Amino acid sequence: MSGGTGPTPPTGTGPAIGVARSETGGRGPEPAAAGPVATAPDGAPHVPVLLREVVAYLAPRPGGRYVDGTVGAGGHAAAVLAAAGGEAELLGIDRDPAALALAARRLAPFGARVRLVHGNFRGLEQHLEDAGWDAVDGILLDLGVSSMQLDDPSRGFSYQEEGPLDMRMDPSQPVTAADLVNTAGRDQLARWIAEYGEERWAGRIADFIVAARRRRPITTTTQLVEIIKAAIPARARRRGGHPARRTFQALRIAVNGELDGLEEFLQQAARRLRPGGRMVVIAFHSLEDRAVKRAFRALAAPDGGAAPFRLLTRRPVTPGEEEAQANPRSRSAKLRAIERRQ
Ligand SMILES: C[S@@+](CC[C@H](N)C(=O)[O-])C[C@H]1O[C@@H](n2cnc3c(N)ncnc32)[C@H](O)[C@@H]1O
Repeated sequence: MSGGTGPTPPTGTGPAIGVARSETGGRGPEPAAAGPVATAPDGAPHVPVLLREVVAYLAPRPGGRYVDGTVGAGGHAAAVLAAAGGEAELLGIDRDPAALALAARRLAPFGARVRLVHGNFRGLEQHLEDAGWDAVDGILLDLGVSSMQLDDPSRGFSYQEEGPLDMRMDPSQPVTAADLVNTAGRDQLARWIAEYGEERWAGRIADFIVAARRRRPITTTTQLVEIIKAAIPARARRRGGHPARRTFQALRIAVNGELDGLEEFLQQAARRLRPGGRMVVIAFHSLEDRAVKRAFRALAAPDGGAAPFRLLTRRPVTPGEEEAQANPRSRSAKLRAIERRQ
């Protein structure tokens, strides 16, 4: 896998992309049925997680309107459009212009049925308004970071390669991981690392960061990895995977405010689903999954009155052993889905 380059990414309320009509007709599978779907083409930079399940739970149909709030390289979006067939349309949102360039290429066969927007999913209702869409038939979120972002050292997400300590999904945002690491207070750093990274050595790591930055600014991934290694006692370092994994995850979540817009998005998405419309969310972090679970339960069982939504997943759907083996990054995925009642 590698960071890809591609055509100039669409920005703003991006125009429809591509020219050709889709050749991939066919009905969407029945709800919760794991019908066959297109898999990522060879060389695809990101393997979409729980692909069959996403398509089965969204149950896309001809002529439907779909939103992919984290379109990434367009793997899920392509499968949804292929399964829908007919004249289904998709609005794809991503905050990373490099991802949008890949999505533009991947989704070009669907022509003007796809619009790509550079932005944050927390502005969903504005994006819909800009597209002239009122209600939609399905909404997908596949949260977290993509393989393109993780595997490109120049983005600074990887603790395995030397790179600038950046970690911004949207490079037009002003604050990088280096800014946080060099300026945040010791307690704030410890809280992020403990809460977002679920790292038991958070306090010590924060202490070591503060001591190291007094000597010189921390600007690269390898510098930070060495500081984290020094902070974690040798015996503990041998357990629980790479010692820097949890701290890097925490900083990534803090830099990108990954938990900030989620609840807002879920409320907006619920308002915009048509009767029979569905929302599917894949979370990779327990805090995200908890927010999704809580929001979906409240929509499906509000205090008083008839519930406007039906839970399609009583428990989260997780990857089977085969998928987990083939794509280790899928291991922590949890999918939840709801449907607006008719
Ligand atoms: C796991 S990847 C999605 C991969 C995609 N489903 C596919 O099949 O290629 C997550 C994507 O969501 C984007 N993202 C994360 N948070 C976002 C937000 N708040 N608004 C818009 N995009 C976001 C990231 O830039 C990344 O490209």
